[in-house]
Amino acid sequence: MTPSIAIGLAQYSDSHEIADMSRTLIEYGLPWTWRPGRIAREIAAPNKNVVVAKDQDSLVGFGIMEYLDEHAYLVLFAVRASTQRQGVGSAILQWLERSASVAGAERVRVEARRSNVAGRCFYSEHGYHELSIEPRRYSGVEDGVVLQKWLRNSGEA
Ligand SMILES: CC(C)(COP(=O)(O)OP(=O)(O)OC[C@H]1O[C@@H](n2cnc3c(N)ncnc32)[C@H](O)[C@@H]1OP(=O)(O)O)[C@@H](O)C(=O)NCCC(=O)NCCS
Repeated sequence: MTPSIAIGLAQYSDSHEIADMSRTLIEYGLPWTWRPGRIAREIAAPNKNVVVAKDQDSLVGFGIMEYLDEHAYLVLFAVRASTQRQGVGSAILQWLERSASVAGAERVRVEARRSNVAGRCFYSEHGYHELSIEPRRYSGVEDGVVLQKWLRNSGEA
């Protein structure tokens, strides 16, 4: 990852760009459900972190993590196409996993579209294993794959 890219918490002003990236990179071919207002509510939620990677002022990636009782749930995650395969996704994921570990989560769960080979490879590379197939999970038209990773040193700062 280039040194000019910084990772930090999202601002409300990032909501539109995150929603646009979700529409084109995650929800392509499906109804657009992650609109700016919904993203803004995620930013405001006390039990969630919305994290962005920025190259100068340009938003190149984001991730949303929800903290539940025993595990954390990776809600939404993407890196801009022109910036992929440069380690940005790995850096965002590690940021979120460290936060989840500090928050006491023992494991992280995430879902991906069954056809999303790149995403499934990415999570596999980061130690996630596939738990189950959820039939027609996405708008009733595409199966989902549930993945999980056990965090080492969970509960330790
Ligand atoms: C999945 C995604 C977040 C990965 O982000 P990224 O910044 O490109 O990931 P990294 O550069 O950190 O990749 C780390 C490793 O993951 C694996 N990986 C990443 N993209 C891959 C691809 N297209 N095909 C195969 N393996 C891939 C590789 O092992 C890679 O290491 P390498 O580049 O040294 O071979 C990105 O492709 C993306 O935004 N996709 C669209 C949205 C999406 O699928 N979100 C996640 C599911 S909801």
